[in-house]
Amino acid sequence: MEFGVERLPNTRLIYPMDFDKQIARRGTGSLKWDKYPEEVLPFWVADMDIESPAEVIEALHKRVDHKVYGYTNAPQTTVDAVVNYLKNTHQFEVDPEWLVWMPGLVPAINVATRAYGQPGDAVLTWTPAYFPFLSAPGFAGQQLQVVAFEFNSTTQQWEIDYEKMEAAVTPETKLFLLSNPHNPTGKVLTRDEMIGLGEFCIKHDIILCSDEIHCDLILNDKPHVCAGSLPQEILDRTIIMMSPSKTYNLAGLCCAYVIIPNDAVRLKFRNAARGIITEVNCFGYAGCEAAYTYGEGWRRNLIAYLNENLKLLDDTVASSLPGIHGYPMDATYLAWLNVEGLDMKDPAGFFEKAGVGLSDGPTFRGRGHVRLNFGCPRSQLQEGLDRMQQALKA
Ligand SMILES: Cc1ncc(COP(=O)(O)O)c(C=O)c1O
Repeated sequence: MEFGVERLPNTRLIYPMDFDKQIARRGTGSLKWDKYPEEVLPFWVADMDIESPAEVIEALHKRVDHKVYGYTNAPQTTVDAVVNYLKNTHQFEVDPEWLVWMPGLVPAINVATRAYGQPGDAVLTWTPAYFPFLSAPGFAGQQLQVVAFEFNSTTQQWEIDYEKMEAAVTPETKLFLLSNPHNPTGKVLTRDEMIGLGEFCIKHDIILCSDEIHCDLILNDKPHVCAGSLPQEILDRTIIMMSPSKTYNLAGLCCAYVIIPNDAVRLKFRNAARGIITEVNCFGYAGCEAAYTYGEGWRRNLIAYLNENLKLLDDTVASSLPGIHGYPMDATYLAWLNVEGLDMKDPAGFFEKAGVGLSDGPTFRGRGHVRLNFGCPRSQLQEGLDRMQQALKA
């Protein structure tokens, strides 16, 4: 393994994990921190204020020490790490030929839109939605079709409404964009729901794009149903998007991949990306390989830490943030908060003035909501929640 790291006998003891550590990110070109002046703590874009696993950092140092950073194809060791990870973690046996490496999933979403539809065609998705799902069709001269993903307060579940889906779909619809687990609601889809969606796509001759970037951030015991485990007839029209970036906090390394089992479907994707999408950089591959090879212990500790953060958030919302309520969530470090009870025109602006930078619900087509990123040291979350509490009291 040329650029990987040797497995140390007990990485946990050698590399203690300190999720409580405060890390100064302001002034580092951080998208998250440098958006705001000093007095605002950011809880918006989906990266964490947490150091990546030490094994990833060590692999990156090793790659730096090679001192040559030329154009890079995926090293065989990285491909093996991805194939093993998909097999062992998600029971998805992948032929390495099916992998299409990408410098990010946002470009992949936009490539998919162009690969499967022409100007005038349409892309269907649920709202609230991760905002690049909403913008990709317009960028490609296509229509955006949305169906509300409704929260049923009786079942306490986000539910798929097939009547509305049938009403929204048209012969122009060529692609369904799914976030699985779902950002921003944090819902994990069941096998039945995944199959139902796949059958809907077969019925209407639509490509199913399952963006599974959050699939290793499940906070409870619900299993992730990888679209790769769906019946062949569905798999043949499915593209699966993955990346270690959310789980291991590697977004700036720009390494992601799309798994496309069907040859014709993959060819369309590759053709649409041709000449536009760059290779992944050498550090992205090194980080991806180390994360998948050595990161599992770190990941489990992260999940435990995030669950404690979520508990702090839920308890505070219930006890001290009147007019706000959350929803039961299965996955991600992104909490979707209902702020309709505050009866404010601009709740995100209100909290920003109080020193808390949240994602604004309307960006996701989720009016009356804000999204709070709790992937940070607990003291930082506590400070943000204290500020929200003070602002509401005032
Ligand atoms: C569902 C989903 N897809 C893709 C991305 C971004 O992917 P990338 O950073 O690889 O472009 C995010 C980031 O929050 C996301 O939530």
